[in-house]
Amino acid sequence: MNTIEAIKTRRSCRAFKPDMPPKELIEQVCEAGTYAPTGMNRQSPIIIAVTNRELRDKLSAANAKIMGKDESFDPFYGAPAVLIVLADKDIRTEVYDGSLVMGTLMLAAHELGLGSCWIHRAKEEFETEEYKTVLRTLGISGEYEGIGHVALGYPAVTPPPASDRKQSYVTFVE
Ligand SMILES: Cc1cc2nc3c(=O)[nH]c(=O)nc-3n(C[C@H](O)[C@H](O)[C@H](O)COP(=O)(O)O)c2cc1C
Repeated sequence: MNTIEAIKTRRSCRAFKPDMPPKELIEQVCEAGTYAPTGMNRQSPIIIAVTNRELRDKLSAANAKIMGKDESFDPFYGAPAVLIVLADKDIRTEVYDGSLVMGTLMLAAHELGLGSCWIHRAKEEFETEEYKTVLRTLGISGEYEGIGHVALGYPAVTPPPASDRKQSYVTFVE
């Protein structure tokens, strides 16, 4: 699969099989994410790869609560792995850097045969003392803003094709 093909065929996956992908595959996805460009190459983002069921379920419940949904709703659509992207608040390109990491992770996942979906509300999650403590527990110091989660796993269904692109997307000035 070439890059353009990967970009055009990646789709958000919203139904996952429960099977955990091998760690090597998840590592490959994460490594690709670390090669995303960042402002002045400051590499402001960090990636936390969660395959621990307890933390994954805790994140799911917190995310559902922020959405105003019942905690039994799983915003990660059953994905066994969740990649959390956060970025250093002291670096002014943090949101751009982190967003590009998110996109890169999803494209890499697609190329490797995994399904993925950007799941939002990481910002709200990591503003809570509970999740700041989770970072400290993991030995991560400093102030980080939650950018997003990548729900990751094997797709349980084939996602629908991409919607049409809006006419006004690109303007050429020749
Ligand atoms: C900033 C951002 C936040 C998103 N948040 C969610 C989310 O919380 N839940 C979800 O199911 N999809 C989420 N998505 C996925 C979009 O809905 C999806 O990318 C869009 O509908 C286009 O579909 P595609 O990814 O299949 O091309 C998010 C995407 C972005 C870029």
